[in-house]
Parts: sequence; C-alpha cells; structure tokens
Amino acid sequence: MIMKIFTKSGDNMIYFDNAATTHKPQEVIDAVRIALNTFGNAGRGNSVEALNASRVIYETREKLCALFNAESPKQIAFTYNATMSLNIAIKGLLQPGDHCISTVLEHNSVLRPLYELEKLGVEVSFVNCDADGNLILDNIEELIKPNTKAIICTHASNVTGNLVNIEYIGQIAKKYGLVFIVDAAQTAGLIPIDVRSYNIDILCFTGHKSLLAPQGIGGIYVRKGLNLKPLITGGSGFDSFNKEHPDFMPSHLEAGTINSHGIAGLNAGLSYIEKNGIDNIRRYVQELTWLFYLEIKKLDGIKVYGNFHSRERCPIVSINVLDYDSAYISDILITKYHIETRSGIHCAPLIHKALGTSNQGVVRFSFSHTNTEDEIIYGIKALKALLRDL
Ligand code: ALA
Repeated sequence: MIMKIFTKSGDNMIYFDNAATTHKPQEVIDAVRIALNTFGNAGRGNSVEALNASRVIYETREKLCALFNAESPKQIAFTYNATMSLNIAIKGLLQPGDHCISTVLEHNSVLRPLYELEKLGVEVSFVNCDADGNLILDNIEELIKPNTKAIICTHASNVTGNLVNIEYIGQIAKKYGLVFIVDAAQTAGLIPIDVRSYNIDILCFTGHKSLLAPQGIGGIYVRKGLNLKPLITGGSGFDSFNKEHPDFMPSHLEAGTINSHGIAGLNAGLSYIEKNGIDNIRRYVQELTWLFYLEIKKLDGIKVYGNFHSRERCPIVSINVLDYDSAYISDILITKYHIETRSGIHCAPLIHKALGTSNQGVVRFSFSHTNTEDEIIYGIKALKALLRDL
C-alpha cells in the first residue's frame, strides 16, 4: 500500500498558509505534466520539442506583459523566484557610493542584499511605519540625497497584509529621477499592477503564490532603456563566440536553461486568473478575510496586527493569542484543529521590531480563493475553542 503523504484543503487539513505558497488549480498541474512530456530545450536544438517550449515561453511573456501593462514581452525575464529577481535588481543597479531608500516592511530578500551592499559602500535609509504597520510616507522626500539612486519597496507586507501606496511612491521616484523597484511577491496575480502608470522601473515577482504556478519560477520586468548588470552569465543559445553575455532583454537577465516546465505552469496559472477574473478572485478572498477578521477581532485575548481600515489589502490576518509564543499557538492549531498557518518572523525582521513582536512572532493566517466560507467559520470556531482551553 502506498502511504498518502500529501494532503491539501478538502482532505483533512485546512490550508491557511497561502502567503507562503498556494495550492494549484488542476489546469496548472495538467500543464506541467504536458510540458514534462512534450518540451525540449528552448533555443537549444532543432526539434519540435524545443519549439513547443519556445512557444509557451513566449506566450507566457506576452501574458505577463499584458497583466503588468509592460511595453513589450521582451522586457520580462524569467528567474527562479522573487528573491532572485530582487537580487538581480539590487546588485545589478547599485554601486558603492550610491544611496537608496527602502522600508521597514521589506522581506529579507531585499534586506539581506542591501546589508551585503552596505558593507561595500552603498548607503541605505529606511522609511518607518506606524503601530499598525502603515508606512509613514509623509517625509519620504526628506530622505532623498544627491547620491540617491533608487527606491526599493514591497507592494504589500507579508506579515500584516497591508498594501503600500506604490502609485504615490512611483510619483516621488519619477519626480526625482530615481529608479523604482517594487517587490510584488505577495500581490502579483491578486492586486492589479500597472508598471507604466505607477512609474515602476523594475518589478520583481514570483510565480508560486497568487500567480498559481509551481515553485521555482519567477520573473523580473525591467523598463526599456534601463540597463542592469546581470547577476549570472552563461549560455544564451546564440552568438556563442561573443565573450559577453547578450546585452538586450530578456536574454540579458537569463542564462542557461530556464525552467520551461515551471513556465508552462505559470502560463496555465495566468489563463486561470484571466478566465476567473483577477477582480473576482480578489473580491472573493477579501470577503473571506473580512469575515475572519471581523469575528476574531472581537475575541478577548486575541491581538490582530495590521491596518484594517482599508478594505483593499492582501488576504492576511496575523494575530497573537495573549502572550503565548506564536509557534506554540500554530502547533496547537495544526495538531488539534488541523489548521495550517505560519508562525514566527516570516523573514521580515524590521516589521516585527516595529510591531513589538520580535520575541513572540505572530501567527499568520493567509487565505486564497481556494479556501471556503466553511473553512473560515471553522477557523473562527477553532480559535474560540483554543482560547477556552488555554
Ligand atoms: N515569503 C514567504 C512568506 O511570507 C515564503 O511566507
């Protein structure tokens, strides 16, 4: 007998960790299986299989171009994930002597590359947040110096789910001629992003969250005319006698065989979003989030973090129960109630310092459109029971 090792919502567990990664629609699973059976290596061979891969890769660039309103599909390169895209953006742009502005909401995928560059002579200033985790943007212009080159900012906190007003920051970046880099790990596929009207120069995204793709596929949009030094160089499939890696997008930021099987899954994820409508998906999951939030905020002993004044937010509700360690509560939730969450610091240390949760962490509930109202109601009841039993 083969032991069942995978479970997902609808089996015996309730999956509320969608900000870490989402469960995939059947169409995505099918697309990856078909790709595994039919793809060769794009641009690396005279085969029908190589052409199959090339076509899907190009079509996926076109769909991403449409989703983000980029100038051309060629401005989108594939990477492994948002972390890789952010490393390409940050290390490919900033030089010793440059200054950049970032925020306390950032994930370590931004912070660690910045800390690394600080040691090499790059200066960094951080925009702070208030007690609800809202960025204090009023005085962002005061942080700008003659050597400021870029603003690097997440579109949403992966801890609180608060959205950042990237439209406003994009206007500031444009006014001062700064490169605007946005981390859309939590929002791509869920919240509309228009790189041209928001003045975004570089958009970094991952496939495996709201774009519903497998893990290991992500991407980067770079505005036409902006040149980044590539992080990795190597085979491009053409111009092989040239000692230099191609200097035009997307080959400029892609070296070696790319994850075409993952791209096939991403392509199917994009079709799924298009078919169901990004606005419908977002509205549905926001309804679930609000149902959960409005009930649990009434419970004595539960503290909710983040800004719930605005309805538009990522479907994240982070809490603590009295002063219990968040990992302890998360363990009770999974073992006793079969509810899967993520506790701790979520690779975002500065927002925890700002919220005063560096020691306790928070228990993060993060929803997706694959969750149901029944699951949310069960989650609320489970928290009430947990509070009674503590
Ligand atoms: N960055 C992902 C999260 O927030 C993995 O859980």
